[in-house]
Amino acid sequence: MNAIANNAVTLDRQGGVLVASVNNPPVNALSHAVRAGLVGAIDALEDDPSAQALVICCEGRTFIAGADLREFGAPMKSPLLGEVIARLDACAKPVIAAMHGTALGGGFEIALACSYRIAVRDARFGLPEVKLGLLPGSGGIVRLPRLIGVEAALAMISEGNQIGAQEALDKGLLDQIADGDLKAASIAFVRQIVESAKGVRRTSELPVPSFDPAHLSAKRTELARKFKGMNAPQIAVDLIEMMTTTPFAEAAEKEYAACKALIASPQSRALRHLFSAEREALKIEGIPADIAPRPVNHVAVVGPGTMGRGITTCFLMADLPVILVGRSDASLSKAQIAIAAMLDGNVKRGAISQTERDRKLAMLMLSTDYNGLGAVDLVVEAVSENIDTKKQVFRALEEALRPDAIIATNTSFLDIEELASSVSRPENVVGMHFFNPANIMKLLENVRGSRSAPDALATITALGKRLGKLPVMVGRSEGFVANRMLSKRTREAQFLLEEGATPWQVDKVLTGFGFPIGPFALADLAGMDIMAAARAARFARMTPREQRCNIVDKLVAAGRLGQKSGAGYYRYDAEGKRSPDPQVEQILADHGAEAGIVQRQITDEEILERCLYAMVNEAARILEEGAAARPGDIDVIWANGFGFPRHLGGPMFYAQEAGLPHVLEALEKYAGMVGEDYFKPAALITRLVSEGRGFYG
Ligand code: COA
Repeated sequence: MNAIANNAVTLDRQGGVLVASVNNPPVNALSHAVRAGLVGAIDALEDDPSAQALVICCEGRTFIAGADLREFGAPMKSPLLGEVIARLDACAKPVIAAMHGTALGGGFEIALACSYRIAVRDARFGLPEVKLGLLPGSGGIVRLPRLIGVEAALAMISEGNQIGAQEALDKGLLDQIADGDLKAASIAFVRQIVESAKGVRRTSELPVPSFDPAHLSAKRTELARKFKGMNAPQIAVDLIEMMTTTPFAEAAEKEYAACKALIASPQSRALRHLFSAEREALKIEGIPADIAPRPVNHVAVVGPGTMGRGITTCFLMADLPVILVGRSDASLSKAQIAIAAMLDGNVKRGAISQTERDRKLAMLMLSTDYNGLGAVDLVVEAVSENIDTKKQVFRALEEALRPDAIIATNTSFLDIEELASSVSRPENVVGMHFFNPANIMKLLENVRGSRSAPDALATITALGKRLGKLPVMVGRSEGFVANRMLSKRTREAQFLLEEGATPWQVDKVLTGFGFPIGPFALADLAGMDIMAAARAARFARMTPREQRCNIVDKLVAAGRLGQKSGAGYYRYDAEGKRSPDPQVEQILADHGAEAGIVQRQITDEEILERCLYAMVNEAARILEEGAAARPGDIDVIWANGFGFPRHLGGPMFYAQEAGLPHVLEALEKYAGMVGEDYFKPAALITRLVSEGRGFYG
């Protein structure tokens, strides 16, 4: 027999064993056709007296990776996942899940409802719904604790982390790890089950293992800290608590109802938006998806400073041999020690073994000249932010490199067009703007110049992914996207101090909103001398009010350099704990008087709106200029670069949810209060509001 359940699920027969193979690329998501095909397979098993068992496996790169997110938003067509799972649970013959790749979400719930589970050694398992503001709604919550215990299940469900096959076997989730061919191993396994008359084994009939109730309340506190402002992790604890005392069928109904409510919640909409935007951001606007990246097997980094060291570490972690070019042996050996320390950190975190660390470090070559760069495919230039210095490096590189090698600058605000013009092959020039610490931060702003070759752009996107980053392509723009928007928030935060807010009030409003740290606590970490130097560099291009707003200089003059000197916007005790400081209030009051500003009580709402909408307005200009391709790219940049709360979807999504007419009204109000120079609404916002549209169409 070689029956076809439907296009997405093929049914084969091996003796008395039916094998249902799901084939729904790219990740075998549970689309309607897959659900219907699985029901068809269960029908075939039940209707055929000679069929003894059913194996569910998948074609392609992975076992079922969850619900089909593209189907969310429209009414779901029967059979729903819950119906498939009820059929599996009720089935009188054994069904076996045979898993490879990642068995996630609804795919994992299917496996939990099967009698037996078998997987390849590198398979991974998880219930990642919480990361999308959702929770498993088709039995994950009521079944997983029965198999692996309440504490372990709560950890997986409330944080969405995956576990590997060995851990799954140890915890009792898997019955066997298949080291050879998965399908063959599954059929052999199932034959044994049939021969030994072990029959069906329903997870729903297992008792809930005993647990320590104190664990639930401890977990609640931990989750509130770890996932600040997010509802789903807390609801996960509620549901786990509920399932421990509620009969199975009733608990399953409650689980489903809770999940359904979450699907419609604003937090889930925001998180699902980011999930799609993060994948969309990898598609380069205007460049066909089939443009092949250039091969990258050997790289170089010029400049052994903080950024160069972090970038070199990223390359080594991705197993790319690196030549690090510096001006002196002394600076290079200092960099080598720092890079070794970063790799040691990765050993400590369990990311690599000591042997891997040694092998990676051996892939680093140091050089004080450009002579050995002939075999290099790509160079990241990470020398100091001075256009003349960078141009000199570019010219030296062009002489040393192959004609098709890519030169990527790590500049954070210099003009990529000017740099590209300094060499004869501008098509090879791009930007790769890493964020500090480069070996940790996920965001990578890749920069396209007007003459960058399409395959050079495809190369840096592919390379960014290979480095484990989230590469977002941006265009020419001072400070690109992240820092350009940040500078507007920084400006507004400074103005608010002049007008009567305190650093701790502003920080509290922004951390209350969900940012991990407020702008002033952050400035204290960076160091006031650094902030003052950045201000001096921009001084000539500032407005008169910005020039006058010299609170940073006054703090430096008072010896308040930030956390490192024990005082900045805050004062710090010996343990580095910060607290408000009346001396700062005095400096601010004196500053206000000197500037002729009558200071006032400022509401939290005004602080939040001015800080956020100043950024959103700038982002709208960035979109108008084409320096970002899509509003979702800006959301991805802020969620991954500067800790914008993910459950609010990023600044553009947040503004859209607040309503663009409301945003426009607020901008007009602040343009009147603070000045047209700062809050004149971007033409894009005015136009979208007049057309009754939003950022996303
Ligand atoms: N539904 C629909 N499409 C999905 C999907 C889902 N659940 N999961 C992934 N995809 C799509 C992606 O959008 C992407 O499409 P694109 O190439 O058109 O952009 C493609 O599948 C590949 O996904 P990607 O994440 O780029 O591949 P990966 O190999 O890095 O990771 C997974 C694969 C399965 C680990 C990852 O996609 C994932 O975690 N998916 C979500 C799982 C989940 O949350 N399930 C529960 C849903 S309630």
